[in-house]
Amino acid sequence: MANIQRTQVLVVMIISLLIQISLLQAETIASDVHPNISTLKSIVRITNRLGDGSILNLHCKSPDDNLGLKILAPNKSWSFTFRPNIWGTTVFYCHFTWPRGHSTHFYIYDDIRDGVHRGIPCIYCFWDISKDGPCRFNEVTDAFDICYYWNGDPKQ
Ligand SMILES: *[C@@H]1O[C@H](CO)[C@@H](O)[C@H](O)[C@H]1NC(C)=O
Ligand SMILES: *[C@@H]1O[C@H](CO)[C@@H](O)[C@H](O)[C@H]1NC(C)=O
Repeated sequence: MANIQRTQVLVVMIISLLIQISLLQAETIASDVHPNISTLKSIVRITNRLGDGSILNLHCKSPDDNLGLKILAPNKSWSFTFRPNIWGTTVFYCHFTWPRGHSTHFYIYDDIRDGVHRGIPCIYCFWDISKDGPCRFNEVTDAFDICYYWNGDPKQ
């Protein structure tokens, strides 16, 4: 009787050990796939590439934050940092205007497009704003060649 009990205790111990090992492995795998997502900060940088010496006015907002009106001289940049939310719903929407009445909008950050585990991921999301639309910096080609129409459709 005592022997059976001892065997049962041993079996329970082995099983719980196996469960602990598999949980540990699952945790390791999860942290590989999501590298410290809780501390991750992204940066958006916007540069005026309108040309013609035009000044770019921009006003960016998220549902939580109003980043205010910014005025960018030619070739000048402005940037902001933020922590994408864990639900993958972070967006920043910007209104751009420039001389002679031009006015347009663009989602300068959309987690579905730019999130670290999404379409074309970026942590350093650097944008050149030209009259033809925004182009994002591509770390693979080292050029601003991830380009969009003002309506948000990709160009290539
Ligand atoms: C995130 O994890 C990576 C890999 O472990 C590490 O190199 C990096 O410094 C970490 N970043 C932060 C902000 O903790
Ligand atoms: C902005 O940069 C472009 C390309 O480098 C250059 O041709 C232009 O002269 C610059 N404009 C100003 C106002 O600095």
